[in-house]
Amino acid sequence: MKTVVYPGTFNPITNGHTDLVERASSIFDRVIVAVGTSKQKSNYAPLETRVNVTREVLAHIKNVEVTGFDGLLTDFVRSQGANLILRGLRTVADFEYEFQLVGMNRKLAPAIETIFLAPDEEFSYISSTLVREIAALGGDISSFVAPPVIKALEEFS
Ligand code: COA
Repeated sequence: MKTVVYPGTFNPITNGHTDLVERASSIFDRVIVAVGTSKQKSNYAPLETRVNVTREVLAHIKNVEVTGFDGLLTDFVRSQGANLILRGLRTVADFEYEFQLVGMNRKLAPAIETIFLAPDEEFSYISSTLVREIAALGGDISSFVAPPVIKALEEFS
């Protein structure tokens, strides 16, 4: 049984994240979507809400679990009995940051590997920060995110 952990802040979850989870669910037996909190980003809603919204958006994918985590990602991955982290690479701009994360996580936990998938190119320009900004300015975000996200962003604006 191969388990992969897909971590992120999902702040909010976008159609690009969903595309990546759908791809992962056809490759792995179990996909754990781990919703964390970034100290650097302003979170649109508390962790519990981001977990619930992410769970609702991904409910159609059968081998996916959504859970919140606090603390080190590598500790969480171990606690799930897993040794694989999944991250998405949208464009070359993501590479530098992702490469840093891989290196740091590998130092912390050499037995844990990170693998990458690319979302469909139609999602390569979506970012959670831009979605939050467009929503805050009253723009239409319905082609970037699922309805539960729109509802939550309205609720927490
Ligand atoms: N489609 C569209 N957008 C995507 C995407 C995809 N497939 N994959 C990533 N993104 C975007 C997101 O929208 C987000 O945009 P933003 O920067 O505007 O918010 C960005 O890429 C990255 O977001 P996300 O995938 O949610 O990850 P993150 O970089 O916010 O998450 C953690 C970082 C949670 C994995 C990392 O901080 C962590 O591991 N934290 C735990 C503490 C820890 O262990 N720290 C030490 C790490 S070495």
